[in-house]
Amino acid sequence: MANALVTGGAGYIGSHTCLELLQAGHSVTVLDNLCNSSQESLKRVQSLAGRALDLVQGDIRDFDLLRRLLDSRGSKQPAFDAVVHFAGLKAVGESVAQPLAYFDNNVLGTVCLLRAMAEAAVKILVFSSSATVYGDPASVPISEEFPRSATNPYGASKLMIEDMLEDLYRSDPTWRIGRLRYFNPVGAHASGLIGEDPQGAPNNLMPYVSQVAIGQRECLQVFGGDYPTPDGTGVRDYIHVVDLAKGHLAALRSLSQAEAGTGQLLTVNLGTGVGVSVLQLVKAFEQACGRVIPYRVVARRPGDVAACYANPHLAKTLLGWQAQRSLADMCADAWRWQVQNPQGYRLVSTPAPSTGATQ
Ligand code: NAD
Ligand code: UD1
Repeated sequence: MANALVTGGAGYIGSHTCLELLQAGHSVTVLDNLCNSSQESLKRVQSLAGRALDLVQGDIRDFDLLRRLLDSRGSKQPAFDAVVHFAGLKAVGESVAQPLAYFDNNVLGTVCLLRAMAEAAVKILVFSSSATVYGDPASVPISEEFPRSATNPYGASKLMIEDMLEDLYRSDPTWRIGRLRYFNPVGAHASGLIGEDPQGAPNNLMPYVSQVAIGQRECLQVFGGDYPTPDGTGVRDYIHVVDLAKGHLAALRSLSQAEAGTGQLLTVNLGTGVGVSVLQLVKAFEQACGRVIPYRVVARRPGDVAACYANPHLAKTLLGWQAQRSLADMCADAWRWQVQNPQGYRLVSTPAPSTGATQ
């Protein structure tokens, strides 16, 4: 049983991972500045798990706070066994407009966290990397040894952190580090209580489709119908967020089981290995919600690649993990979350009583 510090634990993937950690009997402390999330997700996580976690509202760039959190208070045992590090900014377009915000939050935030961990001798870390580090891959499926590149500051921040973690491991091989490269996380917990809560218009496909299905948006724009793919639309590896969360537990298990005094640097893809086109996803969502999703094919989105899906073999071999949930499950769970929470975690305000005044 481990004591985990989860940075960014109130967010989309973090909240699902906190639930899995609690359900597996681990103790959880979340450090989150709530810049892209709300405490409500964690209230629901605790009610689903029937167990409490601790939330520290703060920033990973606050070194003194991290120091205090990681301080073992004179005990021989470190305050935490491991850190699962989700905290960061993740919007590609925003990163192009505000690169410094991304390098500050993602890269400097991670440096700050690693310094505090090193000082406290907490040396097990699971880091959220992304398939974005593969840039425009020469072929699919993508294996971990494929060349890496970045086409935007968000991707560059993930590359820099991956490199930093490798250098850190080389300098002190007692670190145990997992670099998990997520493909396209979608869906929600099957309870419909926790899920993805984008602010404003969603950038990503599944939340957009879901908002069209419920009538909050008129029509999906399909970005590009002329890709060299079977139906001309972009192909991705959509992975259920609960499978992804379970991948973190598998990584933690593997890192914790390494022989005492030895370290490990794991780099694995977390994907299903199945490529799904935009139109296939739309069809699957229509089946799940029983509604027609209006769409229109428009120009390609700059920076998009034709096809991106994982070779998920290494995760199975090294972690004993593989995705279990189907595209139909992803759509059904995303739809349940959407229907039960049309405003996400924001409370629907009760309309003010009518004064009877006419305009
Ligand atoms: P999210 O925005 O829902 O969660 C990130 C959390 O980190 C939020 O709760 C936010 O408030 C918090 N946070 C941000 N900056 C912080 C800071 N400086 N200090 C403390 N907390 C901070 O995003 P997510 O989708 O759950 O993604 C989690 C991680 O996975 C991110 O690092 C992201 O880059 C990575 N990732 C996400 C995807 C995806 O499609 N969702 C794909 C690949 C990788
Ligand atoms: C995007 C990010 C990537 C990030 C990933 C997960 C870009 C260029 N890439 O990847 O860095 O790691 O999200 O957060 O933003 N699509 C539409 N209409 C829409 C939205 C998307 O047709 O309204 C298409 C896209 O062209 C793509 C597919 O749907 O073919 C998936 O898009 P999206 O969900 O944004 O994920 P990625 O582009 O894979």
